[in-house]
Amino acid sequence: MASADQLKALLKSHIEGDDGHFYAIAMQLAAHEAKLGHGKLAEDLRAMIDSAKARTVPVTTGKRPTPITQPRGELAGLLDASYPKARLVEMVLDDSIAERLQRLIKEQRNFGKIQSHGLSPRRKLLLVGPPGTGKTLTASAMAGELGIPLFVVRLDALITKFMGETAVKLRQVFDCLASVRGVYFFDEFDAIGAQRGFGNDVGEIRRVLNSFLQMLEQDEYNSVVIAATNHPQSLDYALFRRFDDVIEYGLPNQAQIVEILKNKLSGFKIVKPGWVNLAKIAEGLNHAELTRAVQEAIKDAVIHDRETLTSADLKKMLEERQAVQLYEQQRITNK
Ligand SMILES: Nc1ncnc2c1ncn2[C@@H]1O[C@H](COP(=O)(O)OP(=O)(O)OP(=O)(O)O)[C@@H](O)[C@H]1O
Ligand SMILES: [Mg+2]
Repeated sequence: MASADQLKALLKSHIEGDDGHFYAIAMQLAAHEAKLGHGKLAEDLRAMIDSAKARTVPVTTGKRPTPITQPRGELAGLLDASYPKARLVEMVLDDSIAERLQRLIKEQRNFGKIQSHGLSPRRKLLLVGPPGTGKTLTASAMAGELGIPLFVVRLDALITKFMGETAVKLRQVFDCLASVRGVYFFDEFDAIGAQRGFGNDVGEIRRVLNSFLQMLEQDEYNSVVIAATNHPQSLDYALFRRFDDVIEYGLPNQAQIVEILKNKLSGFKIVKPGWVNLAKIAEGLNHAELTRAVQEAIKDAVIHDRETLTSADLKKMLEERQAVQLYEQQRITNK
């Protein structure tokens, strides 16, 4: 059942016409019910919130309701809050990765039970791997699965040139993490996880890393921390064991390529696809490029009022993405 404070906050936000606030509390209620094991009620609440949001926020304005958890004051520039709808099942993942992500979700859903035995549920993940393989999408899907907000920590705003300031900001992020349950996503984590820092001030970033590790160790928060990087080799060795799991993402294999292409067709028909051949052409493309290729092919068909795609349409877009990826890789190696 909702607490008295939650009910009062719900009513107050309604009276004040603060939709964002209202939905955020409602989502918290749903998450609370889910935690109590009332899965059906939680799902019903979420479905009601989703459909109400779809009605009250015209897509054309591009505006989203501002949730209660939208950071204010100093934190506003450091954290971007959202309520993702992404789900893990929508992702194409290796079985072992999916299993490990599910494990964290299960432990988070049974938070109370696990803690009552003096144990600590999984809550810290480090995701490593090449671009476009689903690290950011995983953070969204974890928030979506748990029905809690996603806070993307803006490392560019967090890390400043000024001595001490970065550590203070990091403290603010961890204070928020302890008080507002959510998935806190530290993208491009090598910016703090690496030993090298701003120009000559290596000491500063080292101190930041140490404070990060200390804060990560504290077990009183029930938020999820996900860090991601494309450059695991530059991470400080001490970091790896501080996470509950380090998950390595990679390029999709041939079967996964076909799965992604099929998934992203979103109902569009394709005549004589020749999947095996298409998968060969797509070899080496990451999940993001594959997604893009299908979307480009669909757009082209839509523009020309065609209701189906052909294998040649997809082949053309896949080759185009190969060329783009090759160009990007060359730029990276020439840097
Ligand atoms: N495993 C996946 N399954 C399905 N779609 C995926 C997957 N990975 C990526 N995508 C698609 O590619 C898009 C970009 O992926 P995402 O931003 O998660 O990659 P990333 O690993 O975070 O890349 P980067 O290292 O560049 O930040 C996603 O929004 C999604 O459309
Ligand atoms: Mg990313």
